[in-house]
Amino acid sequence: MAETKKLMRALAGETQAVPPVWMMRQAGRYLPEYRATRAQAGDFLSLCYNPELAAEVTLQPIRRYAFDAAILFADILLIPQALGADLWFVTGEGPRLSTITGADDFAKLKPIDDIHETLNPIYETVRILSHELPDETALIGFAGAPWTVATYMIAGRGTPDQAPAHKLMTEETATFDALMERITLATIEYLSKQIEAGAEVVKIFDSWAGSLKGAAFTKYALEPTKQIITALKARHPDIPVIAFPREAGDGYIGFAKATGADCVALDNSVSADWAAKHVQVDGCVQGNLAPGHMVTGGQALIDETKRIVKAFSGGPHIFNLGHGITPDANPDNVHVMLEAIRG
Ligand code: CP3
Repeated sequence: MAETKKLMRALAGETQAVPPVWMMRQAGRYLPEYRATRAQAGDFLSLCYNPELAAEVTLQPIRRYAFDAAILFADILLIPQALGADLWFVTGEGPRLSTITGADDFAKLKPIDDIHETLNPIYETVRILSHELPDETALIGFAGAPWTVATYMIAGRGTPDQAPAHKLMTEETATFDALMERITLATIEYLSKQIEAGAEVVKIFDSWAGSLKGAAFTKYALEPTKQIITALKARHPDIPVIAFPREAGDGYIGFAKATGADCVALDNSVSADWAAKHVQVDGCVQGNLAPGHMVTGGQALIDETKRIVKAFSGGPHIFNLGHGITPDANPDNVHVMLEAIRG
């Protein structure tokens, strides 16, 4: 059957007059219905591990905005938890985890085969969604890239410069490499299960790729992403992969070819004109409206949306933000953005 979903067609390399669109963090606190369901679930992690409610919040932005894709509601930090790390969220601050400061902490982590015991509810969410989504909506599964996940596991929290991870990389390279390998292999199994449950596309979030430079970028951002994609493609050749090496700068150039990704997601620190010339030449790109426009709205939102659509109109493009929509965004501005894209 010819592919009819707009998102899948872009990922297959088709240039479309009106690009498919979805938003990072489209299920989230800017939506009153999300806040209501989250209150019902209790805390954020209880929501992630409740398949019915996680499916419900995944569907909420689809009902409101008819996006071309739904992204599974979960978090990149469920993998550390499945590997045995303690994980909790501090309201208004973000995630906290038990730290990995050396070989002793690493030795306490669980083997890869054990992760599914924790992650089974996530696969159930995917199964529910694959039945409940409208026919034209693609379902995206996801995981964090090993480097980004490692930065949280090592520091025990988000850090502005990822210094603890860089320190372990330099001072205890063997432990750091073993951790990267454990996360990489766990991620392959996790994404495979999401695909078997019904995910049609997977996205790999390397939110902190920008702090890796030169050879370290190749070794710890590009190579692990390539290893995951190679393994997934061997098992599921027809499932496209979106890679997001956020703030990679020149590292975006050639990233799709080097890793086997079908699409590269761009953050808003690169200009659309530059990316059309240097990244979209290799295939589909996703992005890259600055999330702040969803707070401020107005004519600037319309102009910037149209400018991005036009810049990428010569090749396959998935419209998205350059990073997640923020809790202070105005839900009405999403309609303004969609009107500017879809007319
Ligand atoms: O709608 C979607 O995009 C799907 C669900 C999703 C969440 N997190 C839900 C979430 C996805 C794809 C993620 C990815 C994620 N999680 C990343 C990579 C993308 C990025 O933003 O760079 C990262 C680094 C995380 C880790 C994480 N989770 C942090 C740092 C935080 C706290 C900061 C914040 O925004 O609150 C979270 C919490 C989180 N993940 C929320 C949501 C909806 C907010 C939790 C709440 O309801 O209180």
